[in-house]
Formats: sequence, structure tokens, C-alpha cells
Amino acid sequence: MRLRSAEWFEGEGLRAFSHNARMRQLGLNPAEHLGKPVIAILNTWSGINPCHMHLRERAQQVERGVWAAGGYPLEFPVSTLSETYQKPTPMLYRNMLSMETEEILRSYPVDGCVLMGGCDKTTPALLMGAASAGLPAVFVPAGPMLRGHWRGEKLASGTDMWRFWDEKRAGTISSGDWAEIQSGLARSPGTCMTMGTASTMTAAAEALGLTLPGASSIPAVDSAHHRMAAASGMRAVEMVREGLTIGDVLSAEAYEDAIRTVLALGGSTNSYIHLIAMAGRSQIPLSLNDFDRLSREVPVLASVQPAGTHLMEDFYYAGGLRGLLSRLRDSLHLQRITVTGRTFGEDLDGAEVYDSDVIRPLDDPISPEGGLAVLRGNLAPDGAVIKYVAADPALWRHTGPAVVFHGYQDLQARINSPSLEVTRDSVIVLAGGGPKGGPGMPEYGMLPIPDKLLREGVRDMVRVSDARMSGTSYGACVLHVAPEAHIGGPLALVRDGDLVTLDVEARVLRVEISDEEMARRRDAWTTPPPKFERGYGALYYEHITQADKGCDFEFLSRPGRNPEPNAH
Ligand code: FES
Ligand code: MG
Repeated sequence: MRLRSAEWFEGEGLRAFSHNARMRQLGLNPAEHLGKPVIAILNTWSGINPCHMHLRERAQQVERGVWAAGGYPLEFPVSTLSETYQKPTPMLYRNMLSMETEEILRSYPVDGCVLMGGCDKTTPALLMGAASAGLPAVFVPAGPMLRGHWRGEKLASGTDMWRFWDEKRAGTISSGDWAEIQSGLARSPGTCMTMGTASTMTAAAEALGLTLPGASSIPAVDSAHHRMAAASGMRAVEMVREGLTIGDVLSAEAYEDAIRTVLALGGSTNSYIHLIAMAGRSQIPLSLNDFDRLSREVPVLASVQPAGTHLMEDFYYAGGLRGLLSRLRDSLHLQRITVTGRTFGEDLDGAEVYDSDVIRPLDDPISPEGGLAVLRGNLAPDGAVIKYVAADPALWRHTGPAVVFHGYQDLQARINSPSLEVTRDSVIVLAGGGPKGGPGMPEYGMLPIPDKLLREGVRDMVRVSDARMSGTSYGACVLHVAPEAHIGGPLALVRDGDLVTLDVEARVLRVEISDEEMARRRDAWTTPPPKFERGYGALYYEHITQADKGCDFEFLSRPGRNPEPNAH
């Protein structure tokens, strides 16, 4: 087989001469790289991303694996999407990292790649770009951080922060307690150790067949993580030799198995958007209906916060994702191929569960149905989602008067106003948190419960928005309402006091006003000004699709192939 990188390095022409001369400049002898598969290691390490702080070192273990298998490793630092620090939200930049990933793989002498990420959007971004580039690819998940600790209690990075924030506002913990909690929440490198977006998406990557078996559950600081990284480097080299590409792995069956996995994990609502976007890059049609259909079949088995009680470290010791997948075995597509070159079924051979309290058996699930419902109705013609397993069951069917906020600033300004007319039966509505209006569809969706209701003991209310919600959040939050308010979706037309109905069982989200009234309000509605005037923001704003379509840029998900660059 002829390597793609040979276009750069082989032949008698001046370009090949120059490319090899520069390898000498890099300090390499011809025998060290010529004729070897070049493996790009795309690394999202950054000093501002604590979830990836170990990836600089971990890339060395990947390199070690690449050398050991007879390849030539090349590390590329790529953009980091740090969930904590990047504003307004890293979701604005997911597609940017996907473009960077695709174009680096296309424009350089690369035969295969190892993708290193894990903090929320980094996983879909890297995988979307790699799927579009179409080379052999192995994903190395950053791995979850260790359990948090405070006074002998386990702490969960996101979930407990929200929980104690409510307690602090309710006055039940002191500021001294609060400072101690700050130091105990996140104790090691690695991604959030709840079943947030990071753990959900890295598990989805494994279920798709894009990681080595078991990779996504290994804690970031475990030496098994070092060995997994090296083995991933070795495997990328072998994939090049075998001609096994990411396109061979990403089939419709693989996506269905990934959805089942996400549902059985009680995973993050963000994964619905990301998986639809990823499938779009594989030209595989996937819709919210697929999620809803599977959600009615798949029980939630992982007792990991926020749906359950444990954390990712416990999940790993209980058998990890392979253990969970062994429970689902009968409903999975076991014949499809993975990056190992074996079938998915072969990858699962020998997998076991060691703690059935953490990974429940099928006949004793956390919830008999998947935690997801896709809602429709005159308030969400193109769909909305709720992770009802993380909500108070008393609110699964609820009608109440809307208390409407337009944009996050309006919400912040008025939510705790003593004069706000709101009761525990109200439905809090945020319009203007969507892909265009947010902009970037920020994680505003766990709308705050007004302080005065918190003090009355209220801990959950029905909340509706076109925004997303952190995977570590919880509550009766209806999210991803499409079309969004900013482009004139019905959410823009809801007014204070309108009755809003949520019915999870019937899959309905409705505002109790007539079609005529809705049409009258729409006629009076005016398009808001664009959120960006230039630069990447304008590109984003002009091309972003709605949540039910995955929020990809339409020019990235459309079919077609770009030519290889002329390297010789
Ligand atoms: Fe990075 Fe949660 S902040 S995974
Ligand atoms: Mg998150």
C-alpha cells in the first residue's frame, strides 16, 4: 500500500527534496520516518483546561506507542474548549475545532491520527472533524477525575456545586463550608466525574467503536490510562497498515448503539445534539425521533450522578462501560467493526459487572425507560427534550402560568426580584438562549429557582428554554426548544400568565393559546438584530443549524468531498 504521506516524502522532485530537507532540520534521520505511517496526535491540552492538564504528558505515551509499532508520531496542538472558562460557551467553538481538526488532517502529511480530548465539546468536535477527514483515527478519552471529597462525604464536580449553591442561598451552609467545598470538588486532572457531557460523550465514542475497549471509563490519573494511551498510538499505526478508516467504523448501527449507551447511562442531554451532528458528518440521517424511540426501550442502568448516586471512579471499579455494555449485549449490533479491527461483540467478550449497585441489572434498573423524552406541540414544533429521570416525578405532568424572561440578562435582573409574581406552580420560561440567540446555545437551561421559593423549600419547578443544560445539572428543565425564539420560534411569543403544559408521558409541550392568537402575536414580532457583525461569530451566526439538526454549520454537514491537496 502507498501511504498518503508518501505524496510529501517520496519521489525525485524538488518538493520531496525540500520536505525531506526539513525533516533533517527537525533532527530526524531518513530511517526514522521514511516509509513509516505518520500519525498525527491532535492534542487539546492547554494550561486553561484542568480537565486536560495531563494530556501534555499523555501525548508522550501515545508517541511511545506509535514508535513501538513502527510509525512516526507528530503532535499537533489544537484549540482547547475548556467548559469552565470559555465564554459565552464552548458550544460556540465546537464547529471551529471540528474544522481545525479536519483541515489539519487534510493539509499535512498524515496517514492516521490519535485524537486527545474529553472535556465536553472537545469530543464531538474532534470526532466530527476526523469523520469528515476520513483517515484512520483512534480517540483517547481524557478520562474522569477522581471522586471529590469533603468531610468524609463524596463530592461531585458539577452536580454538588449546584446543590450546595442552592443550600448556601437557602442559608443552610456557612461561607467557611463553602470555601472547603471549593477545594474538595475537583481533586485531580481529568473530566467531570459525574455522568455529565464529558463522560457521556467519551462513552458514546467508545460505543461507536472509536476507542480501545474500556478506554472511556479509566480515571485520568490511573496508570491504566497511560497504557491505554500507548496502545492507542500502536493501534493507529496498525489501522493505517490495514486500511481501516473512521468511515469503516461509523455506521448507522454504530450510532444506534451509541444512543442506546447514552440512554442506559442516563447521560447528558447535550449528547443528542452532538450525536446528530456527528452522524451528519457520516451522512447518516439521525433525528430526535430515533432518540425518543430508543428511549422507550432502554432502561437506565448506570447509577452515576445526576441520575444515580455514584461517580465515574465507582463506575470504573464496577466494570466500567464494558460492564454496562455487557448488560445491553442482546440489543447491540455485535457484528460491526471497531478501531480494534475486531467486531464490537469480540471487544465485549469477557466484560463483567462487579458491582450491581453501580451498574444495575436489566431487571432492577434506575428507571425502566431511558431518561429522555422528546416533546412536541405548539411550543416546540421541531422538538424539545427533557431528561425526566433527573426531575421530580410530580412535575412530569404539569400545567402552570408562564413567567417569561427574554435573554439571560433579563433573567438575572428579575428572577430574585421580591415583586416577581411566581409560585411553585409557575413555569419559568427563558426565550433567547438558542444557537443563534444565546448565542452559542449556552448552558442556561437549569433556570434558577427564585430565592424566595428556595426558602420555602421548593427544589424543582418546570422550566422551559431554547438553551442547553450542563450534563451535571438536574430538574424538570425542558431544553433545546426548536425552532428557537431568536428566529421567531413560538417560544418568542409566550407571555406572562399563558398556561404552559408539560406532559412527559404524552410527549407534549404546549402553550394554551389559540392558533389565531399565536398568528396574531407572530405578525407583531420583529426579527432581532444579528448577534455578530464580523469574524468567526458572523460565520457561526450565518450557518448554524437548529438544535434538532445538531447545530452544525450547514456547509460542514452537506455531502461531497474536497480534493486532496497537491503535495508533490
Ligand atoms: Fe471539563 Fe466538566 S469542565 S469535563
Ligand atoms: Mg458540562
